Parts: sequence; structure tokens; C-alpha cells
Amino acid sequence: MNDRVQASPAEYFTASDASPAGDAGACPMSPRVAAAISVARYHGVELDPQTVRLQPDEAAPSPPVLVAWLRDSGLWARGVRLSFKQLMKIDDPAPVVLLLDDGGAALLVGRNTEHGALLLRDPHSAGSAPVAADALQLKQLWSGACLLVRAGRQGVAEDAPFDMAMLARLVWGEKRILRDIAISSVTITILSILPILMIMTTINTVVQYHSTNTLTLIVVVLVIALVFEMILTWGRKLLTVILAAKLDARLNLLIFDRLLALPVDFFERNQAGELSYKIAQIYQVREFLTGKLMTTFIDIFMVLLLLPILFYMNASLALTVVIAAGCIGLIIWAFIPMLARMTQRIIAAESAKGSVLVESIYGIRTVKALALEPLRAAEWDRKVANSAALNLEAGQLANWPATLTMPLQRYTQAGVLALGAYMAMHSNNPLMIGSLFGFMMLGGRVAGPLVSLASLIEDVQRAKAAIGQVGSVLNRPTEKRAMTQGLRPQFEGAIRFDEVTFRYEGTSAPALEKMSFSVPAGTMLGLVGRSGSGKSTVTRLLQGINRDYTGSIKIDGTDIREINLRHLRKHFGMVLQDNFLFRGTVRDNILAGRPGLSFEDAVRAARLAGAEEFIELLPHGYDTYIQEGSPNLSGGQKQRLAIARAVVSDPRVLILDEATSALDPESEALVNANLLRIAEGRTMVIVSHRLSSLIECDLIMVLDRGHMVDIGPHKELVERCAIYRHLWLQQNRHIDSRQPIPSLAQRK
Ligand SMILES: Nc1ncnc2c1ncn2[C@@H]1O[C@H](COP(=O)(O)OP(=O)(O)OP(=O)(O)O)[C@@H](O)[C@H]1O
Ligand SMILES: [Mg+2]
Repeated sequence: MNDRVQASPAEYFTASDASPAGDAGACPMSPRVAAAISVARYHGVELDPQTVRLQPDEAAPSPPVLVAWLRDSGLWARGVRLSFKQLMKIDDPAPVVLLLDDGGAALLVGRNTEHGALLLRDPHSAGSAPVAADALQLKQLWSGACLLVRAGRQGVAEDAPFDMAMLARLVWGEKRILRDIAISSVTITILSILPILMIMTTINTVVQYHSTNTLTLIVVVLVIALVFEMILTWGRKLLTVILAAKLDARLNLLIFDRLLALPVDFFERNQAGELSYKIAQIYQVREFLTGKLMTTFIDIFMVLLLLPILFYMNASLALTVVIAAGCIGLIIWAFIPMLARMTQRIIAAESAKGSVLVESIYGIRTVKALALEPLRAAEWDRKVANSAALNLEAGQLANWPATLTMPLQRYTQAGVLALGAYMAMHSNNPLMIGSLFGFMMLGGRVAGPLVSLASLIEDVQRAKAAIGQVGSVLNRPTEKRAMTQGLRPQFEGAIRFDEVTFRYEGTSAPALEKMSFSVPAGTMLGLVGRSGSGKSTVTRLLQGINRDYTGSIKIDGTDIREINLRHLRKHFGMVLQDNFLFRGTVRDNILAGRPGLSFEDAVRAARLAGAEEFIELLPHGYDTYIQEGSPNLSGGQKQRLAIARAVVSDPRVLILDEATSALDPESEALVNANLLRIAEGRTMVIVSHRLSSLIECDLIMVLDRGHMVDIGPHKELVERCAIYRHLWLQQNRHIDSRQPIPSLAQRK
């Protein structure tokens, strides 16, 4: 043995070795995750360890999870099994991740061909010297699982449009199952043709020559064939079900992934009802892929196998069957354009109907409050009538090809018999009778699939329309690239706007025009101005919700367009006027599934937000369950929970947009009293209509019609800014502006 291999690799790369990772904070990082990060870094991509989608019961991420994660970031990744020898042969300097049996990982960074050893490195200590391991040593820890990573074409898989071609690739991804289904289908076909051929023989020989032995043999063969056919049919069904489940899961993952990557403003511009209806069309696509398409695919095999047999038995009869089948095809072909148009119309009508339903459910409070039920019902009636009429029309249309092709279908069964009988009568061959029976039975099997091809075409149209619907939502520019790439700086919180001009899509007047200002980190910045003056727009641009502005917005000197979006938003806290609480306990809602946060953090955040006292009065405290739409909480309580949720991760920048406007004076005073404490050590941007809640701000910015009118502390603004003074006097007529204003802290 060579003497260069000293330390046992086992000491280096075990899963228990998971040391706290640099940027994952106190949360230990799996060596597999660390290894993936190292390799990605090698290829120039920085990964965020918090974005791995670990299954809850998974200790170490499985190869598919890692592959999906790497691919998400635009890298090419693949999980493979390789032998020691193969690894020795790879002559690519890029590191390979060895996935060890115990859930650990090692980075393959080089080879020592002289000693027949691989040079491995611990993923947690990037700078450490590699250890050499030979085949024997590695065998104890590793059974061949590897992760190959290469620099990919940026985000190819993710950004491919959602269309037929993409679905075809998705199905093709299951090549092995498809191959097995194909093999079993061919075998089943052969086995099911067997009895027919046997019957032919029975008629031809057994009956004619009274051969009992042959009959027994035939029966035995038939029984055996039947048993095999049963087993194979069962197996094929199972494979089809597996394929369906796999495709279903993939489609669902894909669409949700894409949906979540769409920018917020897309959702704002499109009705939730229509969007969810369109997305739900995916079920049509799936049904098509795994149902009709599958069976037809199998049937075509049957036809391809049977045709040569038919030609062998009787070429002229077989030719007539093919001609009949061709005519069936032509008739159906002629109807396709009409059917396609019809299907488009039906889908549009169904979509309109779906939106009425979803909208009514979403807006049921308003519907009830304004007694709009009759109006909604009338609208629904109209949509239902429309879609019913279209469906009827489509049914009538589809009836035509079915009827017209009927004589041809019949020909392939009965007509062939007549023609064959005629031919038999005029020939001296007695074997003809048996063959004729066989021909008739097989001929029917050819016609069946061809007819089902007809209805397949209709289904293709439906599926196409459904794909179009889903695609109309999903084939939009996503934020994926911005969310997976870009810088991940540590934030201090200094904000700078330089000549920022922004216009919402479809509007003429800019929402912000040539706005320039700069505030240092730790500032408490208030935004005031009339409704529609652009306050919320400022906060939206800061969060990267709208990104097509001109000018530049910088955080600590870095343009936010350069910063990874997810990183940016994660380090920003946001509280809106109306916040959505998820179903789950109070604690879950405050922690919002963010890793590395404990119950103590939740309590601390609740205290900071002034939510502690009411949470403790809830029936189960922090474990009280919040229903959908949170009916068991008051507006003020919800708001304080939302503030707790925003501050729990200790964001560098906290944005409150009208966060306290919906609160009663008492809750508002409570939140305001805490604002100063909340603001400690971070930049705050507070939008409020009530100037009294902004007095404590270091700087207040006054906006008017998208322009910044002035910026300064309250005292200065009252003196010099007319708009501000006007707003202030409007709200505080009873207070003499020359009097010192009681501060929040004093008021408390
Ligand atoms: N999603 C949007 N699409 C198109 N225009 C928008 C959109 N959001 C806002 N606007 C327009 O941009 C301008 C600024 O709106 P913004 O929401 O920033 O005002 P605001 O100061 O926050 O008002 P408010 O106090 O009422 O919340 C308004 O004229 C508004 O009509
Ligand atoms: Mg607003």
C-alpha cells in the first residue's frame, strides 16, 4: 500500500461532522449542501443554503433535491452512479461531489494516478488539504452515488416556454417506463393475436382432420398465453399508473414553481379568479398525457403489428382494410379545424364561467354586504347557458365524423367477411374459411385504434387549448433569474435614490418622477403625501417589486438590480395595511417557516410588536390556531402579528405602509409607542396618513404627484414646507403649531 494515504477518509467526511456553516448562521449545514455550494462556487454561482427544499423527514438532502436546487440556479447537474475506476478516468478539473452512504459528502478535487487514489476534500473546510483515498478505503463509505455539476446555459430548463414541446420533453424524461410499457404492449398484442390465429388453425385443421391431440395442445397453449397476458396487462397498468403519478407530480411542481416566480405586479394586473381557473386547466393536460395519449400510443403498436399479419394472410383483403382506415382518417382530418375552433370557444366560455365562480367565492363578503347575490346569480346563469350551448354545438359537430365513419368501420368487420366469403367461394382453397374468420377478428382490431385516433385528435385540440391557457399565465417573464442570481451583500440600510422615474404599465403619468434622496443607515424615514402621491410606489421599488424604472436605487452603495431578489426581500421587513396570515398557529405565523428561528425569537418579536399581551390572553397562547382569513383575530391584533412577523428575523430595513391606519387609537398608540424600540439598529420607512405617528421620525419626506417636495425633520417641515404645514394643520386644528408637540414617549 502506498504510504501517502495516511488518515482514514472516514474521519473527514461523515455526516456527523456537520459543523456550523458560515452564512447559514447557527443552523448546521448538511455536508451535502456545503459540497453543492462549493462546486457551484467553482462554476461561479453563489447558492443560498436556505433555498434547498429539504423534505421535513430528510436528514440529508437526496440527490434529486440537490439536482433540482443546482438546476434552479442555472447550473447543469446530474445524479449518477460511478465506480472508483470511472472516477479515476474523468479528466475534468471541476470537482465532483461524492454522496456518501451515511448522508455525508466529499469533494473529489483530484487524482493521484501514480498511487491509484482519489484526492478528496471535506466540503466544510474549503481551504483544507485534500486526503487521498484508494478504492478499498472509499468502498467502506461510498457505494457510487455522485453529483456531476457543470456551468449550464443560464436557467434553460426553467425558462423553457410551457408548450407541447416542453410537455413532450417531460414525458420523454420517463424513457424507461415508456420503454417498458412499449415492450409489454407488444407482448400483450402478440399474446392476444395468438388465440385468433389458434382459432384459425382449429377451424382449418382440427375440424377438418378430427385431430384431438392438436386441439388439446392448442387449448394448453391458449391457457398459458392467457396467464401471461393477464400478468403483463396487470404490469402494464401498474406502469401506466406510475407514469401518471410521476408526470402529475412533475407538472404540479413545475407550475407552482413558475407561478411563485412571477412578479407581484403580474398578479395585481390579473384577476385571481381567472388566474386560478387557467392554472387549473393543467388537469386537462395531465389527463390527456396519461390517459388518452397513452392508450392510443399503445393501440398504434397493435396496428403496426397487425398490418403485416393481415397482409400475409390475404394481401387484397388487407389492402381494402387499409383503404377503409385511410378514408376514416381523411374524414376525421376534414373536421379538425372546425373542432379546434369549437374547442377554443368552449375553453374561453368555461374560463369566463370559472372566473365568476372563483370571484364570487373570493368576494363573498362584499357580495353579501351589498346584497349582490341576484346579480351574481344572473351572471352565472348567463355563463352557464353560454357554455352549455357551446358544448351542445360541439357535441353535434363531433357527431358527424363519428356517423360518417361508421360504414367504413363496419366494412373492416362485416364487409371484409362478405368480400372474403365471395373470394373463398371462387377459390378452391378450403383453408380460406378459417383464415377468413381470423381476418375478420383481426381486421376489427385495426379499425378500433384508428377510430380512437379520431377522438384523440379532438382531445389533442382540447389539450392544446388547455396548454395555451396555462401557458398564458406561466409563459411570462419571471423573477427567477433575479431570485437565484446576483449579489448577496450584508446590509447596513443606507438608501439612495438617484433620478428615479417610474411609470406603471398601462398608465401615462409617471408614479414617481426624477426622485433623488439619500438617507444613512439607521434612519427612521417617514413618507407623507396625498393619496396617490407615490408613497407605496417608493416602498415597492425598494423591494424590487417593480424593476423597470429609470435612474438608480442603491442600498449601501449597491444598485438593487444587482442584488439577489430573494436575499433583498429576506432582509427587508414589510408590513402592509392588510396583511395575510396563513393558516397555522400564532407561533407559526410569526416565525413564518423561517429556518433557524426559535420560539424565543417569536416571543421577543411579539413583545416588540406589542402583541404579547393579547397573545397571552388567547385560549392557547402562542399555539392558538388561526383560521383562514383569521376571523378569530381583530384587525389590530392581526396587524400586530404582522409586525411581529416582520421583525422576527431582525431585518436591516423595515417598511411599514399604512401599517397602523386600520388600527383603533389604542392599538395604534401601542404600536407607535413601540416604534422607537423597533427602529433601534435598523432603517425604517414608515408611510402614514397620520402625521402624528411620524413626529419621531429622523426625516420626513413629503411627496406630491410623484415628486419629492421636501425632506427634513418635522420641526423644519412645519416651518418651511407648505404642503406639510397644510396637512399638519388639517389634522391638528386643535393644537397650536407653535406649541411644542408632545412626543410619543411622553404621551405613553
Ligand atoms: N398597480 C398599479 N398599476 C397602475 N397604476 C398604479 C398602480 N399602483 C399605483 N398606481 C398609480 O400610481 C400612483 C401612485 O400610487 P401609490 O400607490 O404609490 O400612491 P400612495 O401615495 O401610496 O397612495 P395611498 O396613500 O392612497 O396609498 C397613483 O396615481 C396610482 O394610481
Ligand atoms: Mg399607498
